Amino acid sequence: MKKVRALVLGAGSRGNAYAAYSRECPDELEVVAVAEPDQKRRDQFAERYQIGPEKCFTGWEEALAQPKMADAVFVCTLDEMHTAPALKALELGYDVLLEKPMSNTEEECIAIERGVRESGRVLTVCHVLRYTPFFRKIKELIREGAIGKTVTIDLIENVGYWHQAHSFVRGNWRDAKETSPMILAKSCHDLDIICWLMEDRCKWISSFGSLVHFMKENQPAGAADRCLDGCPYEDECVYFAPKIYLTGSTEWPADIITTDLTPEGITEALRKGPYGRCVYCCDNNVVDHQVVNMEFAGGATASFTMTGFTAELTRQIKIMGTNGQITGDLDRSRILLQRFGEEDATEVPVPGVRDGFGHGGGDFGVVQNFIRLVNGEGDNLTSANVSLQSHRMCFAAEKSRREHCAVRLGK
Ligand SMILES: NC(=O)c1ccc[n+]([C@@H]2O[C@H](COP(=O)([O-])OP(=O)(O)OC[C@H]3O[C@@H](n4cnc5c(N)ncnc54)[C@H](O)[C@@H]3O)[C@@H](O)[C@H]2O)c1
Repeated sequence: MKKVRALVLGAGSRGNAYAAYSRECPDELEVVAVAEPDQKRRDQFAERYQIGPEKCFTGWEEALAQPKMADAVFVCTLDEMHTAPALKALELGYDVLLEKPMSNTEEECIAIERGVRESGRVLTVCHVLRYTPFFRKIKELIREGAIGKTVTIDLIENVGYWHQAHSFVRGNWRDAKETSPMILAKSCHDLDIICWLMEDRCKWISSFGSLVHFMKENQPAGAADRCLDGCPYEDECVYFAPKIYLTGSTEWPADIITTDLTPEGITEALRKGPYGRCVYCCDNNVVDHQVVNMEFAGGATASFTMTGFTAELTRQIKIMGTNGQITGDLDRSRILLQRFGEEDATEVPVPGVRDGFGHGGGDFGVVQNFIRLVNGEGDNLTSANVSLQSHRMCFAAEKSRREHCAVRLGK
């Protein structure tokens, strides 16, 4: 297999997550160039991946104005900056690994799908759950008929109270107008995985959800607007920022808020930056809980719950078929299969996940599969065409939530 050379656009959290594959499997992937406006991030990334100054760019625009310099482009910029670099990269003849959501508008998702068809290049959307050993095993069980015909799927996304506060109240995905609504930003993975496991077309969708907690009217009397400005609720408030970021760890989520990971650097970021704000007086508007109901063409149904009010961060699924049921917990890597008539459920072993890679091994799996595709091998589990279908479900769910109506999806 030929080694794939990649240009990474956006050396933030995701750019680093995928680039890390090249350190694990240097014969398969080499990161040869980077585009990142934040100089410190760019320099750290260049040093980590031994990229010379002539291949370091201040933005995707500058990098993609150069002649083609690699086999593939990894689009790891924020949601609202996916379409233009993806289309430009396809036009230049690159294969593309594109972060989810494809885009935050349906029209742009359609344009990306068209761009892929017209260019004939490979494009994989990073719906990482499909590449986890956990969901692959569940898919295998369904395929081999372990529970008969699937009739009902229930999926719960337990976002976790502090993760909700970090990403969707204080952080990057707090404002649906700037980035994406929750159903795209976080839960496009979930509707995609339901669609994949159901192996059918979603026909009807409805959704409810709102922001009920992280709002000014819930700020305790006398609380400071920034945690470090002498807030009297330091002991009792679980969202007191130092409890989340000044824990001694320099890993996620601390590494998101600053590049200076000393206690002084983190404290400074909390004093001045967005992550030190009281969770009850941020400029957030995305929902903190949402439910989605789906009916599929063959009559099967699915329900999905996303909630920020959980202690754990995991996805829990129950798949009910005509002959049995599968229950699973992603974070615990635990799958139980119970065929009707059997007294007890059987635990189904899940293959191990490579150390150091997030999302239950999905971050590793998606890059591994992408490298094979660039080499002309394997199946594109999350092509633009496939991903467009589940993105359409997200746009329909958001329409339903906003307009309080059920939405019929086209053929
Ligand atoms: N697949 C998943 O499971 C998953 C998980 C988290 C985030 N995401 C998605 O990944 C994307 C990136 O998220 P992140 O957490 O890495 O964000 P991030 O903020 O850590 O990284 C984005 C980077 O893009 C850089 N950038 C800004 N303008 C740029 C430009 N013109 N050219 C090049 N780079 C530019 C920023 O400086 C930043 O470093 C988002 O779309 C997000 O929704 C996907």
